[in-house]
Amino acid sequence: MKVVHTIEELRDQLRGQLRVAFVPTMGNLHKAHLSLMKLARQHGDPVVASIFVNRLQFGPNEDFDRYPRTLAADIEKLERERDVYVLFAPDEREMYPEPQSYTVQPPNDLGDILEGHFRPGFFTGVSTVVMKLFSCVQPRVAVFGKKDYQQLMIVRNMCRQFQLPVEVLAHETVRDTDGLALSSRNVYLQPAERNEAPFLYAVLHELRDQVLAGHFDRQALEDRAVAALAGHGWKVDYVALRRRRDLYPPTREEMQAGEPLVVLAAAKLGNTRLIDNLEI
Ligand code: PAJ
Repeated sequence: MKVVHTIEELRDQLRGQLRVAFVPTMGNLHKAHLSLMKLARQHGDPVVASIFVNRLQFGPNEDFDRYPRTLAADIEKLERERDVYVLFAPDEREMYPEPQSYTVQPPNDLGDILEGHFRPGFFTGVSTVVMKLFSCVQPRVAVFGKKDYQQLMIVRNMCRQFQLPVEVLAHETVRDTDGLALSSRNVYLQPAERNEAPFLYAVLHELRDQVLAGHFDRQALEDRAVAALAGHGWKVDYVALRRRRDLYPPTREEMQAGEPLVVLAAAKLGNTRLIDNLEI
């Protein structure tokens, strides 16, 4: 695997490659990331991964400074798996040599809801860096995880609307045996919190079961899930039952007619904010 830190080196490595498959990450790689690289390998060649902790997508009171940066260990993992041909690991000055005054702003009805409501500017930061990474790597396919459901949707819609020649592939959420979605932020969890953490997924499952059993009062379903989490000491940002196609709240009639749904949640255990979702 070639590790490059500049855009110039990256372009040198990729000159003439028309089937690049790309997996952008912020590092502290775990099994889910590695699985995304495997999927990339099945859909293109060479596979390029990036590791860049993107300041633009962190709010002023978020964990940018303490976000785990483990480049040496990440490189070892990628070397062991042998899926990635080039790792692009730029520093801040390489990606943002001047303040990024041109940005990509998702539409308000997608970028400012759910995660975007609780993390203002988050999806502008994500969209801008993904656009920039795409312009550096020029992939034909790019792989994103369903764990970040809204992010996946925003990147997909961005590619469609800007007519970028990039096919966005979705990878299923990878979970630990107890159901907890893998996340770089799980390292923040204290042991007792780590034991509690799978409850988030359990609550989403419970909500899904209720929908499948014919309960169509969206607000009541969401309220019950929030109460269950709060009862276990979680500080809940949202539990939201939405249409898969645009993340709008479904009407009762749509639910009865079998509209494809997804339930999304974000909640804090202690200081650690976890997100998860489940399709229905
Ligand atoms: P990061 O959180 O490092 O995630 C990189 C990719 O791995 C994303 O597509 C994310 O959805 C996926 N991923 C993480 N955990 C996963 C899991 N348990 N199952 C499936 N996929 C999972 O997401 C970002 O970085 C950044 O916002 C980025 C897109 C790189 C832009 O900065």
